Amino acid sequence: MTNREQITIPPDGRPLEEQPKWRRDFPIDWPQDHYVARRDFTKFMVLTSFAFVVGQAWIVVQNFLRQRRGQPPIRRIAALNDLPIGQSLVFGYPEPDDKRILVRTGEDRFVAFGQECTHLACAVVPELDKQRFFCPCHNGSFDLTTGRPIAGPPRRPLPRVLLEIRDGALYAVGVETTMV
Ligand code: FES
Repeated sequence: MTNREQITIPPDGRPLEEQPKWRRDFPIDWPQDHYVARRDFTKFMVLTSFAFVVGQAWIVVQNFLRQRRGQPPIRRIAALNDLPIGQSLVFGYPEPDDKRILVRTGEDRFVAFGQECTHLACAVVPELDKQRFFCPCHNGSFDLTTGRPIAGPPRRPLPRVLLEIRDGALYAVGVETTMV
């Protein structure tokens, strides 16, 4: 019995003998080619879905273990493609009320700090052209990459959020408070 998927059909449907010489010399098995493409696509979808499930399960287990050790959770912030270079994003970590600000400073460079100014808790805003976070309340400034105060009344640095890149997404994995 002939397997339908194995039949060679030239693109114009005419028998092989009527095909030009170049096509007879280099026949393309279209049904087989489409079959392989569909099979490879299905395989790809199954593998990526499996990898996603494993990744999510890994995060759940890690969070459980970290919780037992009293460590902050691992939380997904955004897909890398969703944050162009120079853009920022406010998120809550480890609790929704703990406002943090994430800035993409380069292709593979990200920084995230607490959004509250360490002087009197106004919200700071990133100014990439001046390489700083600026607090408009009393003209306080913090270094964009270290979070250290560089001008105005603040004396303490902004708490830094520790980041990890995993599977094309950015995750918050902890908060580091530097003492001066
Ligand atoms: S609250 Fe930021 S400088 Fe005063």
